[in-house]
Amino acid sequence: MERHRFYERLTTRWVGRDFEYFPVLDSTNARLRSRLVAENVPDGAMVVAARQTAGRGRLGRSWLSPTGGLYVSYLFYPERERLDGVIGLLAGVALSDAVRAVTGVTPGLKWPNDGVIGGRKYAGILVEAGTEPRPWAIVGIGVNVGQAPPGGPAHGVGLAEAAGREVSWEDVGALLTQNLERDYEKWLVHGNRPVVQRWEAYNVTLGQVVEVRQGERVVAAGRADRIDDDGFLWVSPTAGPPIRVSGGEVSIRLAGDQYAPGPRD
Ligand code: BTN
Repeated sequence: MERHRFYERLTTRWVGRDFEYFPVLDSTNARLRSRLVAENVPDGAMVVAARQTAGRGRLGRSWLSPTGGLYVSYLFYPERERLDGVIGLLAGVALSDAVRAVTGVTPGLKWPNDGVIGGRKYAGILVEAGTEPRPWAIVGIGVNVGQAPPGGPAHGVGLAEAAGREVSWEDVGALLTQNLERDYEKWLVHGNRPVVQRWEAYNVTLGQVVEVRQGERVVAAGRADRIDDDGFLWVSPTAGPPIRVSGGEVSIRLAGDQYAPGPRD
């Protein structure tokens, strides 16, 4: 397969060294998943698509993926006990650092792992993980680089729109990959706490009154207090003990009892 010129931009040692680029693909996550079943894929393998026809979002949703965005997935082989929780936060921090450096705009992170600017979503992260043939995690990242896809949620935003100038997906993708390698290696040595602390510096969720839904069910409503070392969110309701939440859709409550819609509400 022909290598995209983007590959020449990478300065990493192992993340992205196994690299595939597709002008059109169903889903970069699905591509890595099917390779994983069929062959021995190296740690840090990376797949990029210029557009996706069946981009996957969290919670079984789809991810609109027209040309002009960044659609990338990475494969990692963490130890089994590291599979849950924090790897998505780590990717969010790596992405936020890249976006800040490339655009000059400081983005935010909404738990569990939406990239937001000014309350509007510009990026989503989908982590899929399993244990066969050995523990693996596929980290898929979708970024609205130019503008939010037409037909997508009204409260989406693109990086170019937020920065007020053109932004290249290659710049964001190259720095994201570099940051991911750096942050993943640090995580292996220092564990979850520093990842959570770095995530907290970008967070827009903690300290807010939130409602967390899993499907139609509200699993917690109250003040978002903290993220623990497993990457779980703790919510304090007005009455009753704090609730530990593993995932779901968070809506941030505004004054006057309104809930700011989640990016896909
Ligand atoms: C979300 O719902 O917020 C997560 C969206 C994740 C989308 C990315 S695009 C690249 C990768 N491939 C996919 O099919 N999904 C992820």
